[in-house]
Amino acid sequence: MSLDMQELLNEYREYIEAFFQEKCFQYDSEPQKTLFSAMRYSLLAGGKRLRPIFVYDFCRMCGGDWKKASHFAAAVEMVHTYSLIHDDLPCMDNDDYRRGRLTNHKVYGEAIAVLSGDALLTAAFSYLAKADYSAQVRIDAVSVLSDCAGELGMVGGQVLDIQSEERLCTDQEVLDIQSRKTGALIRAACILGVLAAGGTREQLAAAGDFASNLGLAFQIRDDILDVIGDASTLGKAVGADVGKNTFVHLYGLEECDRLVRYHTKKAIAALSAFDNTACMIGLANSLTTRIS
Ligand code: IPE
Ligand code: IPE
Ligand code: MG
Ligand code: MG
Ligand code: MG
Repeated sequence: MSLDMQELLNEYREYIEAFFQEKCFQYDSEPQKTLFSAMRYSLLAGGKRLRPIFVYDFCRMCGGDWKKASHFAAAVEMVHTYSLIHDDLPCMDNDDYRRGRLTNHKVYGEAIAVLSGDALLTAAFSYLAKADYSAQVRIDAVSVLSDCAGELGMVGGQVLDIQSEERLCTDQEVLDIQSRKTGALIRAACILGVLAAGGTREQLAAAGDFASNLGLAFQIRDDILDVIGDASTLGKAVGADVGKNTFVHLYGLEECDRLVRYHTKKAIAALSAFDNTACMIGLANSLTTRIS
């Protein structure tokens, strides 16, 4: 990736970090300080910030002012962060580390972890509603994010993921689970970026197509890293998915590596509907060999 592109990605990251740091959940006069502290603990724990980057860059690739899209970018990352807090709970994956630090429930206890996830999810829609766009764009954004996050999207995928632990799934089932549990929020991010810029129908469809393939490549790489990754680099435990219906379990490491590259190529092909795609192409390619 060229230095310019790398700089743009850094600028996106710095922009969303500053937004969270300065504009989110700092209420001095409210008594429920523990809740704000727990929400900020997970939200400001770092993470790759891929979903905000997708919002910003799809907005830019459609000719929009990406700096105006922070409310949309923040909303998707809030939903993603809530999904991770709940995913790590003892009743789900029971993980102790996330984003290089103790999981939310390890620090604040399970009740506050559940509630800080609830509050992040709720806040996400408040941020969408308060963004500086027309009523129609904000309604479309609420509709997209709720569809992608809810019972037919991420939450639905998490349910199928848990229920599939007891048995062997088919290829098609694993694909369906991943496209909901991981793909749906990536889809929401890319589409919100297009909405923020007032992009065309064709661009909305292309963003969905890109996200479906990129999300698939991303989850296959996540499954690979669960086997070959390093816990301290990843910031979360490895080996957690042994015996689960992962892509590695279905296809083996070598074929998974090929599939990551294949779906990344398909994702990149969908970018022909946009302008100035070098940054997104560079990012997509870099994710095929990511180690964190
Ligand atoms: C982790 O997502 C969960 C999956 C959907 C595989 P990320 O790998 O994007 O996590 P962060 O945001 O960088 O922590
Ligand atoms: C989690 O998938 C996806 C969501 C949180 C919706 P995983 O359980 O595979 O994610 P990690 O490996 O814990 O990050
Ligand atoms: Mg899980
Ligand atoms: Mg997990
Ligand atoms: Mg995983």
